[in-house]
Amino acid sequence: MSTTMISVPTELHLAKRMSRLGTESAFEVLVRARALEKQGKHIVHLEIGEPDFDTPKNIVDAAVSALHMGYTHYGPSAGLPDLREAIAEDVSRSRGVKFTPEEVVVVPGGKPIIFFTLLALVEEGDEVIYPNPGFPIYESMINFLAAKAVPIPLHEERDFRLDVDELASRITDRTKLIIINSPQNPTGGVLTKNDIYDIAAAIGDRNLMVLSDEIYCRLLFEGEPFSISAVEGMKDRTIILDGFSKTYAMTGWRMGYGVMRADLATHIARLMTNSNSCTASFTQMAGIEAIRGDQTATERMRLKFQRRRDVFVNGINRIKGFSCRLPKGAFYTFPNITQTGWPSKKLADALLDEAGVAALSGTAFGAFGEGYLRFSVANSVENIEIALDRIDQWAKKNL
Ligand SMILES: Cc1ncc(COP(=O)(O)O)c(C=O)c1O
Repeated sequence: MSTTMISVPTELHLAKRMSRLGTESAFEVLVRARALEKQGKHIVHLEIGEPDFDTPKNIVDAAVSALHMGYTHYGPSAGLPDLREAIAEDVSRSRGVKFTPEEVVVVPGGKPIIFFTLLALVEEGDEVIYPNPGFPIYESMINFLAAKAVPIPLHEERDFRLDVDELASRITDRTKLIIINSPQNPTGGVLTKNDIYDIAAAIGDRNLMVLSDEIYCRLLFEGEPFSISAVEGMKDRTIILDGFSKTYAMTGWRMGYGVMRADLATHIARLMTNSNSCTASFTQMAGIEAIRGDQTATERMRLKFQRRRDVFVNGINRIKGFSCRLPKGAFYTFPNITQTGWPSKKLADALLDEAGVAALSGTAFGAFGEGYLRFSVANSVENIEIALDRIDQWAKKNL
């Protein structure tokens, strides 16, 4: 038997690409807030992007039954056929476009669709246009793949809808993918049907694809959702990202899906084979119940988010230095804080440390988020009122 001892400690040599990987600071703020709570401070959590409701009981029951029925094994990488069929039916109905199960890939959350789409379509040096402020994972993953991140700024005076002329001016021969997100995180902005037609017209006959992040499509407070996949000629150019996390309060279950042309779906499924094998089988059985079962809980949650949004926006607009538009979708508000004279990150830190209110700096969503904070309204009206009162007291003392 060899007795060689290794005595030199190993140095960690990370691959260069790791230095280009970003993060989602909501999780970091949550950790800081929890640390303050451990010291005995009371914190109102308005930082995190997940429904505060529990998953509806019919969905939980379906998962438990599936476990007892033996859905504890590997399944097909693209998802269980019955769930793919349920999703295809549901998305066909809600988007007004016919999709087949072969065009659906089930993955563990909405996030992997961002990762897999970029991996499958984007080469080093290709350009990807994405909203800024926007979900930070877009920029992080574009940079990670050494593609060129081309931000499209969202403007408050347009209710945070992107300006299609600005978009058109950023499309070049190197543009491979355009990412759109409506209803939007972090602003709550919603693209109109006209905006979406104009985006499709700006793309024209170009051979580029659109990743349409529609994860908040059921959390809309006015009008009907409209998907770019419904514009003539766009179905084959669109990857729809959707999932269960927000609509059915299932963030911890990790289940989402992409809907795309079948020839791309087979490649995304191959990425699943190589990374996760499949999404958890019993979770997928619960997904069928979520889609086909009673939808009243989803509607109840939507109405609660709307009421909380109204309470928060009315309240924050009365506080010195803050002004906030009424978001039309999702469960986020994005008040302008430039009148406070404070930079966003510093203000977010001060509100957490001194007022006990956790929010995110607009800059957590990209450089164009400076001048804003994001407050999630995924908390009770009582807690939102406590937060408003604390911010008001803080502003009276410090501004
Ligand atoms: C715009 C957007 N897309 C995708 C996701 C990812 O959702 P999931 O938790 O299902 O991965 C989120 C979650 O916050 C989001 O805000």
